[in-house]
Amino acid sequence: MTTAAAEKFAIPEGFDEAHVGPEAYERLYAESINDPDAFWGREGKRLDWIQPYTKVKNTNFNFGEVSIKWYEDGVLNACVNCVDRHLKDRANQTAIIFEPDDPQSEAQYITYAELSDKVNRFANVLLSQGVMRGDRVVIYLPMIPEAAYAMLACARIGAIHSIVFAGFSPDALANRVNDSGAKVVITADTAPRGGRRTALKSNADAALLHCSDRVRCLVVKHTGDQTTWIEGRDVDVKEQMKHVSPDCPPRPMNAEDPLFVLYTSGSTGKPKGVVHTTGGYLVYAAMTHQYTFDYKDGDVFWCTADVGWVTGHSYIIYGPLANGATTLMFEGVPTYPDAGRFWEVCAKHKVNQFYTAPTAIRALMGKGTEFVEKHDLSSLRVLGTVGEPINPEAWTWYNDHVGKGKCPIVDTWWQTETGGHLITPLPGATQTKPGSATLPFFGVKPEILDATTAEPIHGNPAEGVLCIADSWPGQMRTVWGDHQRFMETYFQQYPGYYFTGDGCRRDEDGYYWITGRVDDVINVSGHRMGTAEVESALVAHQDVAEAAVVGYPHPLKGQGIYAYVTLMNGVEPTEELRAELEKWVRTEIGPIAKPDLIQWAPGLPKTRSGKIMRRILRKIAENDYGSLGDISTLAEPEVVEELIANRMNRD
Ligand code: WT7
Repeated sequence: MTTAAAEKFAIPEGFDEAHVGPEAYERLYAESINDPDAFWGREGKRLDWIQPYTKVKNTNFNFGEVSIKWYEDGVLNACVNCVDRHLKDRANQTAIIFEPDDPQSEAQYITYAELSDKVNRFANVLLSQGVMRGDRVVIYLPMIPEAAYAMLACARIGAIHSIVFAGFSPDALANRVNDSGAKVVITADTAPRGGRRTALKSNADAALLHCSDRVRCLVVKHTGDQTTWIEGRDVDVKEQMKHVSPDCPPRPMNAEDPLFVLYTSGSTGKPKGVVHTTGGYLVYAAMTHQYTFDYKDGDVFWCTADVGWVTGHSYIIYGPLANGATTLMFEGVPTYPDAGRFWEVCAKHKVNQFYTAPTAIRALMGKGTEFVEKHDLSSLRVLGTVGEPINPEAWTWYNDHVGKGKCPIVDTWWQTETGGHLITPLPGATQTKPGSATLPFFGVKPEILDATTAEPIHGNPAEGVLCIADSWPGQMRTVWGDHQRFMETYFQQYPGYYFTGDGCRRDEDGYYWITGRVDDVINVSGHRMGTAEVESALVAHQDVAEAAVVGYPHPLKGQGIYAYVTLMNGVEPTEELRAELEKWVRTEIGPIAKPDLIQWAPGLPKTRSGKIMRRILRKIAENDYGSLGDISTLAEPEVVEELIANRMNRD
């Protein structure tokens, strides 16, 4: 499909009253770029401030002096904005609908008044454990209401939460506890998911063996399953919550005080702690939630992500709750008990906005339309996708079978680093094209740069690397404990710009099409994985001498993980060893990092200076070895023949 000819979909009927129409988009976008202080000064007022800001934007993208501040003299509390301020008008409105893994279990409807009670008590439990303003709290919880209580409780007392996705291994958890210097880990006994149970507490036990013995473990007894219990270290949160006061005064926080740290993979081995701060992040999460999904008072909003990812932070918790919405938290998986679960839940709770990942759509698409057709989806108004480019087949299926052609599809491009959507359609303003994230959100100035000259490419069409020319309030502020790494990763290669790590093209209409990562990061089922991270896990195994990991196209996951492994001298490449290495990576990082294909590589293609030629490895993994380009600079060109002959992906 050529981009020029790409079919444009008109805005469906019924969006005349949308928050943003085509004319408003043009006008407000221009204002947001020409006068950011006026635009964001106004938008900042969507929050309640204890002390209003007098300064709006103070940002510098110059390498060596990068500094990003928004609303810097304002004082507020994020929890108050998500909870307390709604009590006057919405005390009895449902804030969170909790839909359990097992469809036979009853859903919970947690009102704003109940949310307030739980969050205040949770905050008092944290205080009683010695957690203070600025302390880090690691949250290793499944998708249960306590995850929301824990996040908001941290925000209330000014502690910095760092959620570790419950699918990560004990080692990955320990690394994050140690890097953040957390005082407390919050976990649950066990977590039901798709009818099976994950032993979270025992993972936390294993992780804490590698952490300071001062780290406390707060345990939510969710299923009641037996776990080990270490007196003096482990605390029964629900029990403690009964005994503490239901009032915990919110801590006034500076707009630039960190709200949370979230670890994400980069092109080097060690995940980095992305730091988001209080004021700008919350303004941006609330605003994008309202405009991108055309969220209106009374709507039921469902984002299917896990709170362990940024999508869950911004669009299950902070954005919707800042807007006084009803947000749905789903504990389960799309295919349990069958492939109709998402649609059953949409019908049951009359969901108005539904936000998921292309990988989930592709998986459900394969199960047939009968699972969709049997549920009443007439409440749906807007559909969203996030995480990776959506292929036109999946887009069309989503549009036809889920949206019945009546729901705009918002393909939202953004990153952990950006806090909220940067390029996305707005339901009442933007005509869509399947596979394109379309146009920038307010205040966002995308530039396509030539990768070699680092110069912006003006005019349409254009293709190159995607950079952003100026700051927006939801931007990350630093890497936890390593501002130098922050500057080097995002501001060094393309001076004066924020570098996204994505390739992109802009078509004749000025629409943006993300073409995928241009760094050593791969996107597996919408989750970001650093190839270096998987490599370091592999080489940590005693039988592995060297490993190189690349992505390759995978029909369901978007990208699959392809590992080339060189074994130690004398070690036999067996099927048992292959299985052992897969298991090894699962334990070192987590199931999402498990290689899909492992190829035994007697040698890896390297330059004479010893650098692995990943370009060649990528081509072979993609089964596209006809055009390897110049291999004359290789130290041993013959290894390439061997790798091609024994390649694993022959699709
Ligand atoms: C990377 C960020 C932000 C939420 C989930 C992932 C890719 C994300 C899209 C989209 C094409 C997308 C990019 C980006 N990505 N959304 N709509 N179309 N690609 O967050 O783990 O920080 O990953 O995901 O490559 O850089 P993340």
